[in-house]
Amino acid sequence: MRVVIMGGTSGIGLATAEKLTAAVAEVIVTGRDAGKLAAVKDRVAAAEQVDGTDEQAVTGFFERTGAFDHLVLAFSPGALGLGPLASLGLADIRGAFDGKLFAYLHALQKAQVTGSVTMVSAATARAAAPGTVTFAAVNGATERIVPPLAAELAPVRVNAVAPGAVDTPWWSFVPEEAREGQFAAMSQDLPIKRVGKPGEVADAIAYLVGAEYVTGTVLPVDGGYTVA
Ligand SMILES: NC(=O)c1ccc[n+]([C@@H]2O[C@H](COP(=O)([O-])OP(=O)(O)OC[C@H]3O[C@@H](n4cnc5c(N)ncnc54)[C@H](OP(=O)(O)O)[C@@H]3O)[C@@H](O)[C@H]2O)c1
Repeated sequence: MRVVIMGGTSGIGLATAEKLTAAVAEVIVTGRDAGKLAAVKDRVAAAEQVDGTDEQAVTGFFERTGAFDHLVLAFSPGALGLGPLASLGLADIRGAFDGKLFAYLHALQKAQVTGSVTMVSAATARAAAPGTVTFAAVNGATERIVPPLAAELAPVRVNAVAPGAVDTPWWSFVPEEAREGQFAAMSQDLPIKRVGKPGEVADAIAYLVGAEYVTGTVLPVDGGYTVA
């Protein structure tokens, strides 16, 4: 089983790479940062430097890779676009779309995938948290393309996981000393009273990769955030 994880050098993507590698998959991860790639290269089958927003690089990567079984799209431009709408520049909002939705769409055009696609959206797609308008738009669109893609790409299965807050380097824009307090505050309203761990989202991705009768779905992995 060959698996490509774009955004597989950190956080949710890396936890998924480790889980699937342990399940004897040949996992190829991509990312931009050479240091992160070097740190993971011995834990996976291959680690390739590919910027998911660079159309030529993505096209070349998928040509080199050829046909493979499963694609996991797990990257985003981090906190770009976070904040009240009135405080945001249009360039940042566009950048948030370019760095996730449009990059995912382009990867889907080029990948020679035969088994399944699993995208990582976010619970903000279906929430009402102030300051997350851009995330709602980008991740809402990412979730919304799942059903038509599942119909269009069949028999390739297409699904998404929608994490709530997960303790990964995504949160590095919050100073470390403030992060624990922020996580604690966010946890109070959650039925499961804590933020998620990357391995818990990886479990859901690994389930969808292997679930041969599941397509066109978005699986929340958010500690109950969207039902609370
Ligand atoms: N953490 C959360 O609380 C949370 C909540 C909801 C949804 N999510 C979603 O979960 C996904 C994974 O986030 P994470 O928390 O695991 O973040 P993370 O720890 O920061 O990991 C992001 C990964 O994506 C790579 N990446 C970023 N931009 C890229 C690009 N243009 N091209 C290729 N690779 C790129 C990063 O490596 P390089 O920087 O080296 O490229 C890294 O491997 C994202 O889609 C995010 O929106 C996260």
